[in-house]
Amino acid sequence: MSTATVAQNDHKEAQDFMPINGTDYLELYVSNSKQAAHYYKTAFGFKSLAYKGLETGSRDFESYVVEQDKIRLVLTSPLKSGTDVGRHIDKHGDGVKVTALWVDDATYAYNEAVKRGAKSYMEPKTEKDEDGKVVTSGIYSYGEVVHIFVERKDYSGTFLPGYQKWESDYQPTSTGLKFVDHMVGNVNEGRMNYWVDFYANVMGFKQIMSFDDKDISTEFTALMSKVMSNGNGRIKFPINEPAPGMKKSQVDEYLEFYEGEGVQHIAVATDDIVKTVSDLKSRGVEFLTIPTTYYDVLTERVGEIDEDIESLRKLGILVDRDDEGYLLQIFTKTVQARPTMFFEIIQRKGATSFGKGNFKALFEAIEREQELRGTL
Ligand code: FE2
Repeated sequence: MSTATVAQNDHKEAQDFMPINGTDYLELYVSNSKQAAHYYKTAFGFKSLAYKGLETGSRDFESYVVEQDKIRLVLTSPLKSGTDVGRHIDKHGDGVKVTALWVDDATYAYNEAVKRGAKSYMEPKTEKDEDGKVVTSGIYSYGEVVHIFVERKDYSGTFLPGYQKWESDYQPTSTGLKFVDHMVGNVNEGRMNYWVDFYANVMGFKQIMSFDDKDISTEFTALMSKVMSNGNGRIKFPINEPAPGMKKSQVDEYLEFYEGEGVQHIAVATDDIVKTVSDLKSRGVEFLTIPTTYYDVLTERVGEIDEDIESLRKLGILVDRDDEGYLLQIFTKTVQARPTMFFEIIQRKGATSFGKGNFKALFEAIEREQELRGTL
């Protein structure tokens, strides 16, 4: 029996005291920002956008910003030993440090969040250059992840003050990635509800979905998840915690290798998943594979769909349906040395859910990878 519920009463409805326009950027602390930027350009189809480093007067850190449609990734490395960025990389490996949220008033967002119990990361500060001014502020989330509020209504520059345009002769074509659909966090056992309450109380998010260990389990492993969303639905943060199982779950493996809580996956949207995934594969992006028997009963399970099943089978794209429509999704293998963060490519055709019907097949695919790593 399904125990997934669209929660309407568990948490108070979203109060829009903190309007968020969307994801502004994601900043990853990585051990080699120059090479990481090249990877995201070549493999994922991002383009060079902005840069800061020694040439711009940034003596301690170097950041490359790459962009594809509404997605911006900032890749930051230290230029010397003994920095907090270096410590972060030593502890966690490469990973997401900042989820920046685009707001109209970064001072107001900060004051409201802190008043409601958020821990301050950065008080509001205004930075200016010839293109105008940007106000930023920040609060802590789970693990060492932070949210930075970005107010850029008085700014017309390339990215942020302090950055210069990154001119490059090498600008790969897009793979059709459009925006961040959702971003998932892994937290320690027993901490999911704490962070659900944090997003409800501090940021006015509402819980839109809940999955318990009966929904998300295989023969061997299990996890639980709740999905928090802001009022306009542009920001969706599923929060996972491990659940007891016969073997070590993917969330346990993440927590062990990341040495703490952090961002598990970034889901990016496309309008044509068959084309996007074909393109990503030809550029060397590796995806989890699903037994082809998955497709034998696909139409039976999800009904008629527009896509050619044979193409989906060839690429390993998964399909799920909810009351509002269907979605197509696929997951990359982890994208850095440690088995921690990965990407999801998602195309929504009406569906607003997260692919519950695929959880079992997907987690069995992850278990096969875990087995190879000796971490199951
Ligand atoms: Fe996802």
